Amino acid sequence: MCGIVGYLGEKDAKKHVMEGLRRLEYRGYDSAGIAYYDEAKADHLVFKEKGRLENLAGLLPEGGSQAAIGHTRWATHGRVTKENAHPHESHDGRFIVVHNGIIENHKALAEEYLAGIPRKSATDTEIIASLLGHLAKGKDVAGAFRQVLDLLEGSYALLLMDREHPDILYAAKKKSPLLIGQNGRDTIIASDLTALCAAATDYLALEDGSIVTIDERGFSVRDGQGKAVRPVLSPVDKAYAETDKGVFDHYMLKEIHEQPAVLRRITAEYFDQETPRIRKDISAMLQKAKRLHILAAGTSMHAGIVGKALFENLARLPTEVHIASEFAHHPPLLEAGSVFLLISQSGETADLRASLEIVKEKGFPSLTLTNVKTSTLAREADKYLEIFAGPEIAVASTKAYTAQIAVLAILAFALGDGGFSLRKELALAAQGIENHLQDHKMYSGIVAGHLKKPHAFYIGRGLDYAVALEAALKLKEISYIHTEGFAAGELKHGTIALIEEGIPVIALVTEKRTAAHTRSAIAEVESRGADVLVIATENVAEKEDGIRLDTVHPLLTPLVCVVPTQLIAYYAALQRGTDIDKPRNLAKSVTVE
Ligand code: M6R
Repeated sequence: MCGIVGYLGEKDAKKHVMEGLRRLEYRGYDSAGIAYYDEAKADHLVFKEKGRLENLAGLLPEGGSQAAIGHTRWATHGRVTKENAHPHESHDGRFIVVHNGIIENHKALAEEYLAGIPRKSATDTEIIASLLGHLAKGKDVAGAFRQVLDLLEGSYALLLMDREHPDILYAAKKKSPLLIGQNGRDTIIASDLTALCAAATDYLALEDGSIVTIDERGFSVRDGQGKAVRPVLSPVDKAYAETDKGVFDHYMLKEIHEQPAVLRRITAEYFDQETPRIRKDISAMLQKAKRLHILAAGTSMHAGIVGKALFENLARLPTEVHIASEFAHHPPLLEAGSVFLLISQSGETADLRASLEIVKEKGFPSLTLTNVKTSTLAREADKYLEIFAGPEIAVASTKAYTAQIAVLAILAFALGDGGFSLRKELALAAQGIENHLQDHKMYSGIVAGHLKKPHAFYIGRGLDYAVALEAALKLKEISYIHTEGFAAGELKHGTIALIEEGIPVIALVTEKRTAAHTRSAIAEVESRGADVLVIATENVAEKEDGIRLDTVHPLLTPLVCVVPTQLIAYYAALQRGTDIDKPRNLAKSVTVE
Protein backbone atom coordinates (compact mmCIF):
# COMPACT_ATOMS: atom_id res chain seq x y z
CA MET A 1 0.00 0.00 0.00
CA CYS A 2 1.16 3.59 -0.45
CA GLY A 3 3.86 4.91 1.85
CA ILE A 4 5.10 8.43 2.55
CA VAL A 5 8.26 9.82 4.07
CA GLY A 6 9.47 13.37 4.61
CA TYR A 7 12.58 14.84 6.18
CA LEU A 8 13.78 18.28 7.16
CA GLY A 9 17.00 18.73 9.09
CA GLU A 10 20.71 19.09 9.09
CA LYS A 11 21.58 15.86 7.30
CA ASP A 12 21.02 14.74 3.70
CA ALA A 13 17.23 14.77 3.34
CA LYS A 14 17.21 12.94 0.03
CA LYS A 15 19.21 10.06 1.50
CA HIS A 16 16.96 9.82 4.56
CA VAL A 17 13.79 9.83 2.49
CA MET A 18 15.12 7.17 0.11
CA GLU A 19 16.12 5.03 3.10
CA GLY A 20 12.64 5.51 4.61
CA LEU A 21 11.02 4.51 1.32
CA ARG A 22 13.24 1.44 1.15
CA ARG A 23 11.95 0.46 4.57
CA LEU A 24 8.39 0.87 3.30
CA GLU A 25 8.93 -1.37 0.27
CA TYR A 26 7.48 -4.34 2.12
CA ARG A 27 4.07 -2.68 2.08
CA GLY A 28 3.85 -3.22 -1.69
CA TYR A 29 3.95 -0.51 -4.37
CA ASP A 30 4.15 -0.11 -8.11
CA SER A 31 5.88 3.26 -8.54
CA ALA A 32 7.84 5.72 -6.45
CA GLY A 33 8.87 9.35 -6.40
CA ILE A 34 10.72 12.04 -4.48
CA ALA A 35 10.87 15.83 -4.39
CA TYR A 36 13.69 17.71 -2.69
CA TYR A 37 15.24 21.10 -2.47
CA ASP A 38 18.58 21.06 -4.27
CA GLU A 39 20.91 23.48 -2.48
CA ALA A 40 23.29 23.96 -5.41
CA LYS A 41 20.55 24.59 -7.96
CA ALA A 42 18.46 26.53 -5.43
CA ASP A 43 15.42 24.76 -6.81
CA HIS A 44 13.02 21.94 -5.99
CA LEU A 45 13.59 18.86 -8.12
CA VAL A 46 10.96 16.15 -8.65
CA PHE A 47 11.72 12.61 -9.83
CA LYS A 48 9.35 9.69 -10.23
CA GLU A 49 9.42 6.30 -11.90
CA LYS A 50 7.41 3.12 -12.35
CA GLY A 51 8.51 -0.12 -10.72
CA ARG A 52 11.06 -0.70 -8.00
CA LEU A 53 12.81 1.93 -5.93
CA GLU A 54 16.11 1.14 -7.66
CA ASN A 55 14.62 2.64 -10.83
CA LEU A 56 14.00 5.90 -8.99
CA ALA A 57 17.38 5.81 -7.22
CA GLY A 58 19.06 5.51 -10.62
CA LEU A 59 17.59 8.87 -11.70
CA LEU A 60 18.78 10.91 -8.74
CA PRO A 61 21.74 13.23 -9.31
CA GLU A 62 24.41 13.85 -6.67
CA GLY A 63 23.89 16.86 -4.49
CA GLY A 64 22.70 17.70 -1.02
CA SER A 65 19.31 18.72 0.24
CA GLN A 66 17.86 19.53 3.63
CA ALA A 67 14.20 19.01 2.85
CA ALA A 68 12.61 16.15 0.92
CA ILE A 69 9.33 14.28 0.57
CA GLY A 70 8.90 10.85 -1.02
CA HIS A 71 6.21 8.31 -1.83
CA THR A 72 5.68 4.71 -2.85
CA ARG A 73 2.39 4.32 -4.74
CA TRP A 74 0.02 1.37 -4.99
CA ALA A 75 -2.35 2.39 -7.77
CA THR A 76 -5.97 3.15 -6.86
CA HIS A 77 -6.94 6.23 -8.91
CA GLY A 78 -5.33 5.95 -12.31
CA ARG A 79 -3.10 3.34 -13.88
CA VAL A 80 0.48 2.53 -12.98
CA THR A 81 2.30 5.26 -14.91
CA LYS A 82 5.09 7.71 -14.23
CA GLU A 83 2.56 10.56 -14.53
CA ASN A 84 0.34 9.08 -11.84
CA ALA A 85 3.25 8.44 -9.46
CA HIS A 86 3.68 10.95 -6.61
CA PRO A 87 4.80 13.68 -5.90
CA HIS A 88 2.18 15.78 -7.71
CA GLU A 89 2.59 19.45 -8.45
CA SER A 90 -0.02 22.17 -8.54
CA HIS A 91 -0.94 23.51 -11.99
CA ASP A 92 1.12 26.65 -11.28
CA GLY A 93 4.08 24.52 -10.16
CA ARG A 94 4.27 26.13 -6.70
CA PHE A 95 3.13 23.27 -4.47
CA ILE A 96 4.37 19.70 -4.37
CA VAL A 97 2.33 17.02 -2.59
CA VAL A 98 2.59 13.34 -1.62
CA HIS A 99 -0.54 11.65 -0.34
CA ASN A 100 -1.73 8.36 1.16
CA GLY A 101 -5.47 7.73 1.20
CA ILE A 102 -8.39 8.50 -1.06
CA ILE A 103 -10.13 11.81 -1.71
CA GLU A 104 -13.71 10.77 -2.36
CA ASN A 105 -14.97 14.11 -3.66
CA HIS A 106 -12.02 14.86 -5.96
CA LYS A 107 -14.22 15.03 -9.09
CA ALA A 108 -16.67 17.47 -7.52
CA LEU A 109 -13.80 19.64 -6.24
CA ALA A 110 -12.15 19.68 -9.65
CA GLU A 111 -15.44 20.76 -11.27
CA GLU A 112 -16.14 23.47 -8.72
CA TYR A 113 -12.69 25.00 -8.28
CA LEU A 114 -10.45 23.89 -11.11
CA ALA A 115 -12.57 24.08 -14.26
CA GLY A 116 -10.40 24.66 -17.32
CA ILE A 117 -7.17 23.93 -15.45
CA PRO A 118 -5.21 21.24 -17.35
CA ARG A 119 -4.23 18.06 -15.48
CA LYS A 120 -1.11 15.98 -15.78
CA SER A 121 -2.34 12.85 -14.01
CA ALA A 122 -5.47 10.82 -13.32
CA THR A 123 -5.01 11.01 -9.54
CA ASP A 124 -7.07 12.53 -6.78
CA THR A 125 -3.84 13.86 -5.25
CA GLU A 126 -3.15 16.29 -8.07
CA ILE A 127 -6.43 17.99 -7.18
CA ILE A 128 -5.10 18.71 -3.68
CA ALA A 129 -1.95 20.32 -5.08
CA SER A 130 -3.90 22.41 -7.59
CA LEU A 131 -6.50 23.46 -5.03
CA LEU A 132 -3.63 24.83 -2.98
CA GLY A 133 -2.22 26.64 -5.98
CA HIS A 134 -5.68 28.08 -6.56
CA LEU A 135 -6.51 29.07 -2.97
CA ALA A 136 -3.09 30.13 -1.66
CA LYS A 137 -2.76 33.14 -3.95
CA GLY A 138 -2.17 36.16 -1.75
CA LYS A 139 -2.75 34.15 1.45
CA ASP A 140 -0.51 32.52 4.00
CA VAL A 141 0.18 28.89 3.12
CA ALA A 142 -0.89 27.45 6.47
CA GLY A 143 -4.29 29.16 6.15
CA ALA A 144 -4.76 27.97 2.57
CA PHE A 145 -3.72 24.45 3.56
CA ARG A 146 -6.37 24.37 6.28
CA GLN A 147 -8.95 25.71 3.83
CA VAL A 148 -8.11 22.94 1.35
CA LEU A 149 -8.22 20.27 4.04
CA ASP A 150 -11.69 21.44 5.05
CA LEU A 151 -12.84 20.76 1.49
CA LEU A 152 -11.50 17.21 1.32
CA GLU A 153 -13.76 14.20 1.96
CA GLY A 154 -12.09 10.85 2.49
CA SER A 155 -8.76 9.92 4.01
CA TYR A 156 -5.33 11.43 3.79
CA ALA A 157 -1.83 11.56 5.17
CA LEU A 158 -0.29 14.47 3.29
CA LEU A 159 3.11 16.09 2.99
CA LEU A 160 3.46 19.42 1.28
CA MET A 161 6.34 21.50 -0.07
CA ASP A 162 6.10 25.10 -1.17
CA ARG A 163 8.63 26.29 -3.76
CA GLU A 164 8.44 29.78 -2.26
CA HIS A 165 9.50 28.50 1.20
CA PRO A 166 12.00 25.67 0.76
CA ASP A 167 12.83 25.59 4.47
CA ILE A 168 9.34 24.52 5.57
CA LEU A 169 7.34 21.30 5.17
CA TYR A 170 3.67 20.92 6.03
CA ALA A 171 1.80 17.73 6.92
CA ALA A 172 -1.77 16.76 7.70
CA LYS A 173 -3.62 13.61 8.67
CA LYS A 174 -7.13 12.24 8.57
CA LYS A 175 -7.93 8.50 8.76
CA SER A 176 -4.53 7.51 7.29
CA PRO A 177 -1.59 6.90 9.62
CA LEU A 178 1.13 9.51 9.98
CA LEU A 179 3.92 9.54 12.53
CA ILE A 180 6.41 12.29 13.24
CA GLY A 181 9.84 11.53 14.60
CA GLN A 182 12.64 13.63 16.00
CA ASN A 183 16.37 13.32 16.43
CA GLY A 184 17.84 16.56 17.76
CA ARG A 185 16.97 19.21 15.18
CA ASP A 186 16.09 16.68 12.50
CA THR A 187 12.45 15.87 11.84
CA ILE A 188 11.30 12.82 9.92
CA ILE A 189 7.69 12.11 9.13
CA ALA A 190 6.33 8.85 7.77
CA SER A 191 3.28 6.67 7.39
CA ASP A 192 4.87 3.73 9.21
CA LEU A 193 7.15 3.36 12.21
CA THR A 194 9.60 1.20 10.27
CA ALA A 195 10.31 4.14 7.96
CA LEU A 196 11.33 6.57 10.66
CA CYS A 197 12.82 4.36 13.32
CA ALA A 198 16.35 4.37 11.91
CA ALA A 199 16.50 8.18 11.76
CA ALA A 200 14.44 9.18 14.81
CA THR A 201 14.95 8.64 18.52
CA ASP A 202 11.41 9.66 19.57
CA TYR A 203 8.10 9.86 17.78
CA LEU A 204 4.47 10.86 17.99
CA ALA A 205 1.53 9.18 16.24
CA LEU A 206 -0.53 12.10 14.96
CA GLU A 207 -4.25 12.34 15.69
CA ASP A 208 -6.86 12.88 13.00
CA GLY A 209 -7.22 16.53 12.10
CA SER A 210 -3.59 17.35 12.96
CA ILE A 211 -1.74 19.90 10.87
CA VAL A 212 2.02 20.01 11.29
CA THR A 213 4.54 22.66 10.35
CA ILE A 214 8.16 21.53 10.17
CA ASP A 215 11.08 23.92 9.97
CA GLU A 216 14.71 24.07 11.04
CA ARG A 217 13.71 24.49 14.72
CA GLY A 218 11.66 21.27 14.76
CA PHE A 219 7.92 20.83 14.39
CA SER A 220 4.69 22.23 15.77
CA VAL A 221 1.28 20.56 15.73
CA ARG A 222 -2.19 22.10 15.64
CA ASP A 223 -5.39 20.12 16.09
CA GLY A 224 -8.51 20.19 13.93
CA GLN A 225 -9.71 23.38 15.64
CA GLY A 226 -6.39 25.14 15.03
CA LYS A 227 -5.32 24.89 18.68
CA ALA A 228 -1.61 24.26 19.40
CA VAL A 229 -0.99 20.71 20.66
CA ARG A 230 1.84 19.95 23.09
CA PRO A 231 3.36 16.81 21.58
CA VAL A 232 4.17 13.97 23.97
CA LEU A 233 6.79 11.84 22.24
CA SER A 234 7.50 8.15 22.88
CA PRO A 235 10.90 6.53 22.41
CA VAL A 236 11.29 4.58 19.17
CA ASP A 237 11.37 0.82 19.72
CA LYS A 238 14.62 -0.05 17.98
CA ALA A 239 13.27 -3.52 17.14
CA TYR A 240 11.61 -1.73 14.25
CA ALA A 241 14.99 -0.56 12.97
CA GLU A 242 16.25 -4.11 12.63
CA THR A 243 14.87 -4.95 9.27
CA ASP A 244 17.65 -7.06 7.86
CA LYS A 245 17.08 -10.69 6.95
CA GLY A 246 19.90 -12.07 9.08
CA VAL A 247 20.98 -15.50 7.88
CA PHE A 248 17.80 -16.01 5.85
CA ASP A 249 17.27 -15.41 2.15
CA HIS A 250 13.80 -13.98 2.67
CA TYR A 251 11.91 -12.13 5.38
CA MET A 252 9.20 -14.77 5.21
CA LEU A 253 11.60 -17.57 6.16
CA LYS A 254 13.07 -15.40 8.92
CA GLU A 255 9.62 -14.63 10.28
CA ILE A 256 8.58 -18.30 10.17
CA HIS A 257 11.65 -19.04 12.29
CA GLU A 258 10.83 -16.27 14.74
CA GLN A 259 7.60 -17.95 15.82
CA PRO A 260 8.92 -19.85 18.86
CA ALA A 261 10.55 -16.65 20.17
CA VAL A 262 7.35 -14.69 19.56
CA LEU A 263 5.30 -17.23 21.52
CA ARG A 264 7.78 -17.01 24.39
CA ARG A 265 7.67 -13.21 24.35
CA ILE A 266 3.86 -13.27 24.42
CA THR A 267 3.94 -15.63 27.37
CA ALA A 268 6.33 -13.31 29.18
CA GLU A 269 4.18 -10.26 28.40
CA TYR A 270 0.84 -11.82 29.32
CA PHE A 271 1.51 -14.10 32.30
CA ASP A 272 2.33 -13.64 35.97
CA GLN A 273 3.41 -17.19 36.77
CA GLU A 274 0.30 -19.21 35.81
CA THR A 275 -2.14 -16.27 35.83
CA PRO A 276 -2.89 -14.37 32.63
CA ARG A 277 -2.20 -10.64 32.95
CA ILE A 278 -5.00 -8.90 31.05
CA ARG A 279 -5.89 -5.27 31.78
CA LYS A 280 -8.89 -5.09 34.11
CA ASP A 281 -10.96 -2.84 31.85
CA ILE A 282 -10.49 -5.28 28.97
CA SER A 283 -11.43 -8.33 31.07
CA ALA A 284 -14.45 -6.44 32.40
CA MET A 285 -15.58 -5.57 28.88
CA LEU A 286 -15.28 -9.19 27.71
CA GLN A 287 -16.86 -10.61 30.88
CA LYS A 288 -19.98 -8.58 30.17
CA ALA A 289 -20.21 -9.88 26.61
CA LYS A 290 -23.19 -12.07 25.72
CA ARG A 291 -21.75 -12.67 22.29
CA LEU A 292 -18.34 -11.92 20.85
CA HIS A 293 -18.06 -10.82 17.22
CA ILE A 294 -14.66 -11.16 15.62
CA LEU A 295 -13.97 -8.91 12.61
CA ALA A 296 -10.92 -9.51 10.44
CA ALA A 297 -9.61 -10.11 6.92
CA GLY A 298 -7.33 -12.67 5.26
CA THR A 299 -4.92 -14.43 7.57
CA SER A 300 -6.19 -12.50 10.59
CA MET A 301 -9.68 -13.77 9.82
CA HIS A 302 -8.31 -17.31 9.78
CA ALA A 303 -6.79 -16.67 13.21
CA GLY A 304 -10.23 -15.40 14.20
CA ILE A 305 -11.78 -18.76 13.25
CA VAL A 306 -9.38 -20.43 15.67
CA GLY A 307 -10.29 -17.69 18.17
CA LYS A 308 -13.96 -18.70 17.94
CA ALA A 309 -13.06 -22.24 19.03
CA LEU A 310 -10.90 -20.87 21.86
CA PHE A 311 -13.57 -18.51 23.21
CA GLU A 312 -16.34 -21.08 22.93
CA ASN A 313 -14.32 -23.90 24.51
CA LEU A 314 -12.31 -22.06 27.14
CA ALA A 315 -14.67 -19.22 28.07
CA ARG A 316 -18.06 -20.65 26.96
CA LEU A 317 -18.60 -17.33 25.16
CA PRO A 318 -20.67 -17.63 21.95
CA THR A 319 -18.53 -16.18 19.18
CA GLU A 320 -19.11 -15.26 15.53
CA VAL A 321 -16.40 -14.54 12.96
CA HIS A 322 -17.12 -12.03 10.21
CA ILE A 323 -15.18 -11.21 7.06
CA ALA A 324 -14.73 -7.48 7.60
CA SER A 325 -15.48 -6.48 3.99
CA GLU A 326 -18.82 -8.31 4.24
CA PHE A 327 -19.73 -7.02 7.67
CA ALA A 328 -19.01 -3.43 6.62
CA HIS A 329 -21.79 -3.50 4.02
CA HIS A 330 -24.08 -6.30 5.23
CA PRO A 331 -24.01 -6.25 9.02
CA PRO A 332 -26.11 -9.02 10.58
CA LEU A 333 -28.77 -8.50 13.23
CA LEU A 334 -26.88 -7.67 16.40
CA GLU A 335 -28.24 -8.24 19.87
CA ALA A 336 -27.56 -6.23 23.05
CA GLY A 337 -24.49 -7.48 24.84
CA SER A 338 -22.44 -7.87 21.66
CA VAL A 339 -18.76 -7.03 21.97
CA PHE A 340 -16.47 -6.63 18.96
CA LEU A 341 -12.93 -7.91 18.65
CA LEU A 342 -11.03 -6.62 15.61
CA ILE A 343 -7.98 -8.63 14.63
CA SER A 344 -5.48 -6.90 12.38
CA GLN A 345 -1.72 -7.34 12.13
CA SER A 346 -1.24 -3.89 10.61
CA GLY A 347 -4.12 -2.15 12.35
CA GLU A 348 -4.76 -0.24 9.12
CA THR A 349 -7.04 -2.51 7.09
CA ALA A 350 -9.72 -0.33 5.47
CA ASP A 351 -12.40 -3.06 5.56
CA LEU A 352 -12.02 -3.23 9.33
CA ARG A 353 -12.11 0.51 9.69
CA ALA A 354 -15.36 0.62 7.74
CA SER A 355 -16.75 -2.14 10.00
CA LEU A 356 -15.62 -0.31 13.12
CA GLU A 357 -17.55 2.76 12.02
CA ILE A 358 -20.73 0.66 12.07
CA VAL A 359 -19.86 -0.89 15.43
CA LYS A 360 -19.31 2.55 16.94
CA GLU A 361 -22.43 3.99 15.33
CA LYS A 362 -24.46 1.23 16.98
CA GLY A 363 -22.74 1.87 20.31
CA PHE A 364 -21.09 -1.55 20.81
CA PRO A 365 -17.78 -1.80 22.68
CA SER A 366 -14.71 -2.67 20.63
CA LEU A 367 -11.23 -4.05 21.16
CA THR A 368 -8.45 -4.23 18.56
CA LEU A 369 -5.86 -7.00 18.64
CA THR A 370 -2.91 -5.74 16.62
CA ASN A 371 0.81 -5.92 16.07
CA VAL A 372 1.10 -2.14 15.69
CA LYS A 373 0.12 -0.20 18.78
CA THR A 374 0.40 3.13 16.93
CA SER A 375 -2.04 1.96 14.26
CA THR A 376 -5.33 3.57 13.37
CA LEU A 377 -7.44 0.62 14.55
CA ALA A 378 -5.62 0.56 17.88
CA ARG A 379 -6.59 4.18 18.37
CA GLU A 380 -10.07 4.08 16.88
CA ALA A 381 -11.39 1.10 18.87
CA ASP A 382 -12.26 1.58 22.54
CA LYS A 383 -9.31 -0.55 23.63
CA TYR A 384 -6.42 -2.41 22.12
CA LEU A 385 -4.10 -5.31 22.89
CA GLU A 386 -0.71 -5.95 21.32
CA ILE A 387 0.40 -9.29 19.91
CA PHE A 388 4.14 -8.59 20.25
CA ALA A 389 5.14 -10.34 17.02
CA GLY A 390 7.71 -7.64 16.16
CA PRO A 391 7.79 -6.08 12.69
CA GLU A 392 6.41 -8.42 10.03
CA ILE A 393 7.95 -7.39 6.73
CA ALA A 394 6.98 -10.21 4.32
CA VAL A 395 3.58 -9.55 2.76
CA ALA A 396 2.57 -13.13 3.58
CA SER A 397 1.66 -13.11 7.25
CA THR A 398 3.17 -15.95 9.31
CA LYS A 399 4.33 -15.03 12.79
CA ALA A 400 1.46 -12.57 13.23
CA TYR A 401 -1.00 -15.47 12.70
CA THR A 402 0.54 -17.62 15.45
CA ALA A 403 0.92 -14.57 17.70
CA GLN A 404 -2.75 -13.67 17.21
CA ILE A 405 -3.81 -17.21 18.12
CA ALA A 406 -1.60 -17.23 21.21
CA VAL A 407 -3.05 -13.94 22.50
CA LEU A 408 -6.60 -15.09 21.67
CA ALA A 409 -5.93 -18.25 23.68
CA ILE A 410 -4.69 -16.21 26.64
CA LEU A 411 -7.72 -13.90 26.49
CA ALA A 412 -10.15 -16.81 26.30
CA PHE A 413 -8.31 -18.65 29.07
CA ALA A 414 -8.43 -15.54 31.29
CA LEU A 415 -12.22 -15.45 30.92
CA GLY A 416 -12.72 -19.14 31.67
CA ASP A 417 -12.13 -21.50 34.55
CA GLY A 418 -8.58 -22.43 33.61
CA GLY A 419 -8.12 -26.04 34.66
CA PHE A 420 -4.72 -26.50 33.00
CA SER A 421 -1.48 -24.55 32.59
CA LEU A 422 -1.84 -22.55 29.38
CA ARG A 423 1.58 -21.05 29.98
CA LYS A 424 3.11 -24.53 29.91
CA GLU A 425 1.05 -25.58 26.87
CA LEU A 426 2.21 -22.49 24.95
CA ALA A 427 5.79 -23.32 25.91
CA LEU A 428 5.29 -26.85 24.54
CA ALA A 429 3.86 -25.43 21.33
CA ALA A 430 6.86 -23.09 20.96
CA GLN A 431 9.14 -26.08 21.49
CA GLY A 432 7.15 -28.15 18.98
CA ILE A 433 7.59 -25.46 16.33
CA GLU A 434 11.28 -25.14 17.10
CA ASN A 435 11.78 -28.90 16.80
CA HIS A 436 10.04 -28.97 13.46
CA LEU A 437 11.91 -25.99 12.02
CA GLN A 438 15.22 -27.79 12.39
CA ASP A 439 14.29 -29.85 9.34
CA HIS A 440 12.88 -27.02 7.26
CA LYS A 441 15.12 -27.78 4.28
CA MET A 442 13.37 -31.15 3.77
CA TYR A 443 10.43 -29.16 2.41
CA SER A 444 12.34 -28.50 -0.75
CA GLY A 445 12.10 -32.22 -1.59
CA ILE A 446 8.53 -32.55 -0.30
CA VAL A 447 7.36 -29.69 -2.50
CA ALA A 448 9.24 -30.95 -5.57
CA GLY A 449 7.70 -34.38 -5.02
CA HIS A 450 4.10 -33.33 -4.39
CA LEU A 451 3.29 -29.95 -5.90
CA LYS A 452 3.65 -30.68 -9.60
CA LYS A 453 0.25 -29.37 -10.71
CA PRO A 454 -1.08 -25.81 -10.91
CA HIS A 455 -3.84 -26.77 -8.42
CA ALA A 456 -3.80 -28.11 -4.87
CA PHE A 457 -6.13 -28.81 -1.96
CA TYR A 458 -5.78 -28.65 1.79
CA ILE A 459 -8.34 -30.61 3.82
CA GLY A 460 -9.08 -30.96 7.53
CA ARG A 461 -11.82 -30.90 10.14
CA GLY A 462 -12.44 -28.56 13.07
CA LEU A 463 -9.29 -26.61 13.84
CA ASP A 464 -7.52 -28.47 11.04
CA TYR A 465 -10.08 -27.01 8.65
CA ALA A 466 -9.32 -23.55 10.03
CA VAL A 467 -5.63 -24.16 9.32
CA ALA A 468 -6.47 -25.59 5.87
CA LEU A 469 -8.01 -22.22 4.95
CA GLU A 470 -4.90 -20.36 6.06
CA ALA A 471 -2.59 -22.92 4.41
CA ALA A 472 -4.41 -22.52 1.09
CA LEU A 473 -4.21 -18.71 1.26
CA LYS A 474 -0.48 -18.87 2.00
CA LEU A 475 0.27 -21.23 -0.87
CA LYS A 476 -1.75 -19.28 -3.43
CA GLU A 477 -0.59 -15.81 -2.43
CA ILE A 478 3.13 -16.46 -2.79
CA SER A 479 3.47 -19.42 -5.18
CA TYR A 480 0.42 -18.56 -7.35
CA ILE A 481 -0.63 -22.24 -7.29
CA HIS A 482 -4.42 -22.31 -7.24
CA THR A 483 -5.25 -23.83 -3.84
CA GLU A 484 -8.46 -24.42 -1.94
CA GLY A 485 -8.91 -25.20 1.73
CA PHE A 486 -11.82 -27.57 2.37
CA ALA A 487 -13.63 -29.13 5.28
CA ALA A 488 -12.66 -32.77 4.72
CA GLY A 489 -16.25 -33.96 5.04
CA GLU A 490 -17.51 -31.45 2.49
CA LEU A 491 -15.36 -32.71 -0.39
CA LYS A 492 -17.78 -35.49 -1.31
CA HIS A 493 -20.55 -32.91 -1.75
CA GLY A 494 -19.12 -31.62 -5.01
CA THR A 495 -15.47 -30.69 -4.96
CA ILE A 496 -14.32 -34.28 -5.23
CA ALA A 497 -15.24 -33.98 -8.92
CA LEU A 498 -12.01 -31.99 -9.33
CA ILE A 499 -9.84 -34.80 -8.01
CA GLU A 500 -7.94 -36.52 -10.77
CA GLU A 501 -4.65 -38.34 -11.19
CA GLY A 502 -1.78 -36.55 -9.44
CA ILE A 503 -3.76 -33.64 -7.89
CA PRO A 504 -2.03 -32.74 -4.63
CA VAL A 505 -4.25 -33.06 -1.55
CA ILE A 506 -2.59 -32.12 1.72
CA ALA A 507 -4.52 -33.48 4.70
CA LEU A 508 -4.17 -32.01 8.18
CA VAL A 509 -4.84 -34.50 10.95
CA THR A 510 -4.41 -33.37 14.55
CA GLU A 511 -7.88 -33.81 16.01
CA LYS A 512 -8.28 -37.18 17.72
CA ARG A 513 -12.08 -37.04 17.69
CA THR A 514 -12.32 -36.76 13.90
CA ALA A 515 -9.04 -38.29 12.73
CA ALA A 516 -10.78 -41.45 11.48
CA HIS A 517 -13.26 -39.38 9.49
CA THR A 518 -10.49 -37.36 7.86
CA ARG A 519 -8.72 -40.60 7.05
CA SER A 520 -11.89 -41.70 5.18
CA ALA A 521 -11.77 -38.52 3.10
CA ILE A 522 -8.10 -39.23 2.40
CA ALA A 523 -8.99 -42.74 1.21
CA GLU A 524 -11.70 -41.31 -1.06
CA VAL A 525 -9.35 -38.88 -2.81
CA GLU A 526 -6.53 -41.40 -2.95
CA SER A 527 -8.74 -43.92 -4.71
CA ARG A 528 -9.38 -41.22 -7.36
CA GLY A 529 -5.67 -40.74 -8.00
CA ALA A 530 -4.86 -37.78 -5.69
CA ASP A 531 -1.28 -37.36 -4.57
CA VAL A 532 -1.84 -37.20 -0.80
CA LEU A 533 0.50 -35.75 1.79
CA VAL A 534 -0.58 -36.12 5.42
CA ILE A 535 0.54 -33.69 8.11
CA ALA A 536 -0.30 -35.19 11.51
CA THR A 537 0.56 -34.77 15.16
CA GLU A 538 2.21 -37.79 16.79
CA ASN A 539 -0.88 -38.69 18.87
CA VAL A 540 -2.92 -39.44 15.72
CA ALA A 541 -0.16 -40.11 13.19
CA GLU A 542 0.07 -43.28 11.09
CA LYS A 543 3.21 -44.95 9.82
CA GLU A 544 3.00 -43.66 6.25
CA ASP A 545 2.19 -40.01 7.10
CA GLY A 546 4.61 -37.66 5.37
CA ILE A 547 5.00 -35.01 8.07
CA ARG A 548 4.80 -35.60 11.82
CA LEU A 549 4.52 -32.90 14.45
CA ASP A 550 4.86 -32.87 18.23
CA THR A 551 1.58 -33.41 20.05
CA VAL A 552 0.30 -30.23 21.69
CA HIS A 553 -2.86 -29.19 23.58
CA PRO A 554 -5.87 -29.97 21.31
CA LEU A 555 -6.90 -26.29 21.21
CA LEU A 556 -3.41 -25.13 20.27
CA THR A 557 -2.79 -27.47 17.33
CA PRO A 558 -3.03 -24.61 14.78
CA LEU A 559 0.15 -23.14 16.26
CA VAL A 560 2.23 -26.15 15.21
CA CYS A 561 0.13 -27.42 12.32
CA VAL A 562 0.36 -24.17 10.37
CA VAL A 563 4.17 -24.25 10.30
CA PRO A 564 4.58 -27.04 7.70
CA THR A 565 2.03 -25.26 5.52
CA GLN A 566 4.03 -22.01 5.73
CA LEU A 567 7.16 -23.93 4.72
CA ILE A 568 5.34 -25.66 1.86
CA ALA A 569 4.24 -22.24 0.57
CA TYR A 570 7.74 -20.84 0.97
CA TYR A 571 9.55 -23.67 -0.81
CA ALA A 572 6.90 -23.87 -3.55
CA ALA A 573 7.38 -20.15 -4.22
CA LEU A 574 11.15 -20.55 -4.13
CA GLN A 575 11.01 -23.31 -6.72
CA ARG A 576 8.71 -21.27 -8.93
CA GLY A 577 10.96 -18.23 -8.69
CA THR A 578 8.26 -15.83 -7.49
CA ASP A 579 8.92 -12.69 -5.50
CA ILE A 580 8.35 -14.34 -2.12
CA ASP A 581 8.37 -11.30 0.16
CA LYS A 582 6.47 -9.07 -2.26
CA PRO A 583 3.99 -11.20 -4.18
CA ARG A 584 2.34 -9.68 -7.25
CA ASN A 585 -0.73 -7.46 -6.81
CA LEU A 586 -0.57 -7.63 -3.00
CA ALA A 587 0.20 -5.05 -0.36
CA LYS A 588 1.16 -5.55 3.26
CA SER A 589 -1.55 -3.35 4.64
CA VAL A 590 -4.67 -2.94 2.59
CA THR A 591 -5.80 0.60 3.28
CA VAL A 592 -8.42 0.80 0.53
CA GLU A 593 -11.82 -0.86 0.60
O1 M6R B 1 -3.12 -6.25 8.62
P1 M6R B 1 -4.28 -7.21 8.63
O2 M6R B 1 -4.05 -8.34 9.53
O3 M6R B 1 -5.59 -6.53 8.90
O4 M6R B 1 -4.34 -7.75 7.15
C1 M6R B 1 -5.35 -8.61 6.73
C2 M6R B 1 -5.00 -9.26 5.42
O5 M6R B 1 -4.85 -8.29 4.43
C3 M6R B 1 -3.71 -10.09 5.52
O6 M6R B 1 -3.81 -11.04 6.53
C4 M6R B 1 -3.46 -10.79 4.18
O7 M6R B 1 -4.42 -11.77 3.96
C5 M6R B 1 -2.05 -11.36 4.14
N1 M6R B 1 -1.47 -11.11 2.86
C6 M6R B 1 -2.01 -12.80 4.37
O8 M6R B 1 -0.74 -13.33 4.28
